[in-house]
Amino acid sequence: MNKAVRKAVIAGNWKMNKTPAEATELINSIKALIAGKDVGGCGIIAGVPFVDLPAAAEAVKGSPIKLAAQNVHWAEKGAFTGEISAEMLKAVGAEYVIIGHSERRQYFGETDETVNKRVIAALAAGLKVILCVGELKEQRLSGITSEVVSMQVKLDLAGVTAADMANVIIAYEPVWAIGTGLTATAAQAEEVCAVIRGVLASLYDASLAQSVTIQYGGSMNAGNAAELLSMENVDGGLIGGASLKPADFVEIINAAQA
Ligand code: PGA
Repeated sequence: MNKAVRKAVIAGNWKMNKTPAEATELINSIKALIAGKDVGGCGIIAGVPFVDLPAAAEAVKGSPIKLAAQNVHWAEKGAFTGEISAEMLKAVGAEYVIIGHSERRQYFGETDETVNKRVIAALAAGLKVILCVGELKEQRLSGITSEVVSMQVKLDLAGVTAADMANVIIAYEPVWAIGTGLTATAAQAEEVCAVIRGVLASLYDASLAQSVTIQYGGSMNAGNAAELLSMENVDGGLIGGASLKPADFVEIINAAQA
């Protein structure tokens, strides 16, 4: 990452794990491990299940940990059974929302069109967004990673203003690396994060592109974080499995601070 222009952000994506009581316990463990340490150089986010937000909001008080939800609907309210609005999320302490995660694209019919609607609605409501993009294994093998990821970034950010980009983090998550133990090499992560920054420069301008935090996600862990984060365009991580282990998660935070 380039610390002169961007702050690192390490975000946990807890996925469908932890009850509210367990969420409190996990956050308390993370808090204990960072207590008294200067973590000012690194934003810390926990992306928790919807129902954990009230308990998590209570638990993060007095700590630098911010909360993210893992999805949001684009409508303000109405007949959308099972969905949650941006206002509801803000009311229970979410500052961020993860949008377009590959598991939502893969299992729940999420498309670039619905991702874009969610991004626009979240930003309009004052939530910050962690937008996930990434190629499938077959797409990488076909040599179209840059095209796929560029297209996702353009479609998912359609209509997002330059001013709103101050509230957007992009997470590059190669789908083949998520939950598989297969990590992109630091060079692969850097290459695609740089492509994303180039797309942002073309959509907005070069200085805006330099200011956007671009995370890597996909089997990032305590052992490989430092190398990934040493790359110029990798400004943090979106961490799944390792975010459920407090010591590992804090080690990644430490790597981002170093
Ligand atoms: P993983 O998940 O770290 O378990 O690979 C990352 C993610 O899905 O955001």
